[in-house]
Amino acid sequence: MSAVVTESPETTKPGLREGAFGNATALSCRECGHQVALGPFYACPECFGPLEISYAFPLVTREEIEAGPRNIWRYKALLPVPSDIETSPNTEPGFTRLLDAANLAAELGIAKLWVKDDSTNPTNSFKDRVVACALSAARELGSTVFACPSTGNLANAVAAAGARAGIKTVVFIPSNLEQPKQVNSAIFTENLVAVDGNYDDVNKLASEIAGEEEGWAFVNVNVRPYYAEGSKTLGYEIAEQLGWRLPDQVVIPVASGSQLTKVDKAFQELIKLGLVEDKPYRIFGAQAEGCGPVATAYKAGVDAIRPVKPDTIAKSLAIGNPADGIYVLDIARRTGGAVEEVTDEEIRAGIVLLARTEGIFTETAGGTTTAVTKKLVETGQLDPTLETVIINTGHGLKTLDSISGQVGPAATIAPSYDAFKATGL
Ligand SMILES: Cc1ncc(COP(=O)(O)O)c(C=O)c1O
Repeated sequence: MSAVVTESPETTKPGLREGAFGNATALSCRECGHQVALGPFYACPECFGPLEISYAFPLVTREEIEAGPRNIWRYKALLPVPSDIETSPNTEPGFTRLLDAANLAAELGIAKLWVKDDSTNPTNSFKDRVVACALSAARELGSTVFACPSTGNLANAVAAAGARAGIKTVVFIPSNLEQPKQVNSAIFTENLVAVDGNYDDVNKLASEIAGEEEGWAFVNVNVRPYYAEGSKTLGYEIAEQLGWRLPDQVVIPVASGSQLTKVDKAFQELIKLGLVEDKPYRIFGAQAEGCGPVATAYKAGVDAIRPVKPDTIAKSLAIGNPADGIYVLDIARRTGGAVEEVTDEEIRAGIVLLARTEGIFTETAGGTTTAVTKKLVETGQLDPTLETVIINTGHGLKTLDSISGQVGPAATIAPSYDAFKATGL
């Protein structure tokens, strides 16, 4: 469908500088293809569908990217950020390790497996990537407050990036969130607001505030199109770190579904730009049974996603009404992947399995991804002979409660050699 960029007064925000969004050309509706000019817009004026960034990419070579900084700005030509982005204070996330996970591979019976370990980002989750792009957009749009509704990790990333940028932050979380995630936000901002309700209630409140208040950039609400693009860098890095080629299979945790859809977008862009060879790849989504609306729809073979009330230890994945759920379904089906779910018990076992095989302490989201990968192999949905990457999105120190009581001292002994010998260790 050929769509026209509408030039209405409301789409040209005064004060936008030339090149504020790099090679981005417009915001395109993912539902009807209608386009609007770049600005603080996130819903299609025609059909209310979600808007996403379109680009006119210049010729980008592998060498140019490789010569860039060891953070997400090495891909700045492919992001909605200005060409001088490195000069603005930001947390500079990205270029995290792609770990050859031979021990876990042997345990799961997979021939070749890597863990893309995003727990080593500045605030220990992949959210630093999306927030870095959202901060650039907020700055270019002249926003005065940097904000988000969050299941925890996003609030950590927004609070830290806002502190570094010297912009006021206000972050909203469900009041029952894990303590370490609350402290991880409160250390960076005075304005942590705990809301009595679940994430979907917090999100609704944020949308209301965004509609009422001037100058507030809610990273995952009214600057969502810019924010979401940051997740593409996970896909770019996987391909670059594999020596500029795509893996056969990727397993990705799903809450709103944004991250999964952007890894697919990244792979498609790399193919279009000739930076990797075109080949089939399969994308799998991982959810918790206590909040698995996309997995439920996938298994039922339906397109509509019925919202649920979350009840799981995987609080970072506890989004009952996922904004990008239908796109996740589409990508899983189109690529020959699947969306699978696991119990809280399996999630705990997944956390321990990843730790004891690869020395990676993941949070509940990574426990979900590891456990789902195991289940996908056992049920024959994931091909164990193909090269596979699983994404670890966050650090286990943030969700200690979820495994307390599961691990601990093998023995508590008197400080004597005899007592030690008696343990049989
Ligand atoms: C650690 C972690 N992994 C995965 C996700 C899911 O991300 P998305 O909402 O993009 O599906 C989240 C969301 O907050 C998260 O915090």
